Amino acid sequence: SAPLRIAIAGLGTVGVGTVRLLAEHAPTVAARCGRPIEIVAVSARDRLRNRGCDVSMATWYDDPVTMAREADADVVVELIGGSDGVARDTVLAAIGAGRHVVTANKALLAIHGVDLARAAEAQSVHLAYEAAVAGGIPIVKALREGLAGNQVRRVYGILNGTCNYILTAMGETGRDFEDVLGEAQHLGYAEADPSFDVDGIDTGHKLALLASVAFGRPVDFGAVYMEGIRRITAMDITFAEELGYRIKLLGVAEETEHGILQRVHPCMVSQGRPIAAVDGVFNAVVVEGDYVDRSMLEGRGAGAGPTASAVVADLMDLAAGRGAPTFGVPADRLVGSPAATIDTH
Ligand code: NDP
Ligand code: HSE
Repeated sequence: SAPLRIAIAGLGTVGVGTVRLLAEHAPTVAARCGRPIEIVAVSARDRLRNRGCDVSMATWYDDPVTMAREADADVVVELIGGSDGVARDTVLAAIGAGRHVVTANKALLAIHGVDLARAAEAQSVHLAYEAAVAGGIPIVKALREGLAGNQVRRVYGILNGTCNYILTAMGETGRDFEDVLGEAQHLGYAEADPSFDVDGIDTGHKLALLASVAFGRPVDFGAVYMEGIRRITAMDITFAEELGYRIKLLGVAEETEHGILQRVHPCMVSQGRPIAAVDGVFNAVVVEGDYVDRSMLEGRGAGAGPTASAVVADLMDLAAGRGAPTFGVPADRLVGSPAATIDTH
């Protein structure tokens, strides 16, 4: 069969991971989705940088928006980042040109997700984003497919690898927050602006996406209460351990009598709970539903390999003709708004 032709915008941590995975696993990918996936175009800022992966088969574009508009591609993969500017323009240009979009950009979707989903539906293309939530954990697919029969009561978890890495390392070694953050940045886990990680904003973005799929509501990032980990000290972690707890930054979305409550803050989690044992860059997501009771998925939440794994899964779905509505149902059938808020006074 004809290959699925893809154009990749952004050749950083995730972009390079995606190029490598597609090259290394090309025969398996083609066998599993019925046709090969071919990279026909790429774009990044610096054309001359050696990225340690081969993109010589692809046409280079200095401008990803032009690429999204003009490249001979079925899918544009947006791996640039940022909720506005070039990332959003690239996605809009791709949709406008009738191309599917795969993205890892939770900031973009948390703010413009419903509008972008509507635009994609109007053009009969798909907007897929498994990599945007919890790295390598296939939680979007799990909610949309394997758990779809449930009324979800609560979805929560460790959704930021950088914060979990920092909290784990501070607890194990007593090192400083800043020192460990530098290490997470070096490993490619942190956002371009790491305050998004440590102030709970990235967890908030992901939680808003999870809540939308889990509860069938429009994405409502504005209603998320967010508190990060800057004020946690190594001593707090040690005292919590002595009392039988681990400190974890959790994102929680739950149904309350006032509506869907979405909150992000450090929590004292009893050491007996499975989620307390999720350490380092690992994430975990727990879904509580009326029929399934409780289901937990765990995996690496950041980094080149796990994120590429999720990007390629979305590409394989598209190659096999298995595209799904962005938030589980068509955008116009997302009803109401997660409205409950925390009174902080
Ligand atoms: P990087 O900063 O490593 O890579 C960003 C890429 O975008 C770079 O290749 C950069 O080009 C390119 N770029 C930036 N601005 C432009 C522009 N104006 N025109 C063309 N190219 C541009 O980011 P990551 O790979 O870490 O993240 C990418 C996305 O994936 C983000 O949305 C992030 O939130 C998300 N994500 C990241 C994860 C991770 O573990 N890192 C995990 C899950 C999601 P150049 O290289 O030339 O500078
Ligand atoms: N900065 C994010 C994290 C990347 O640390 O979890 C994965 O979304």
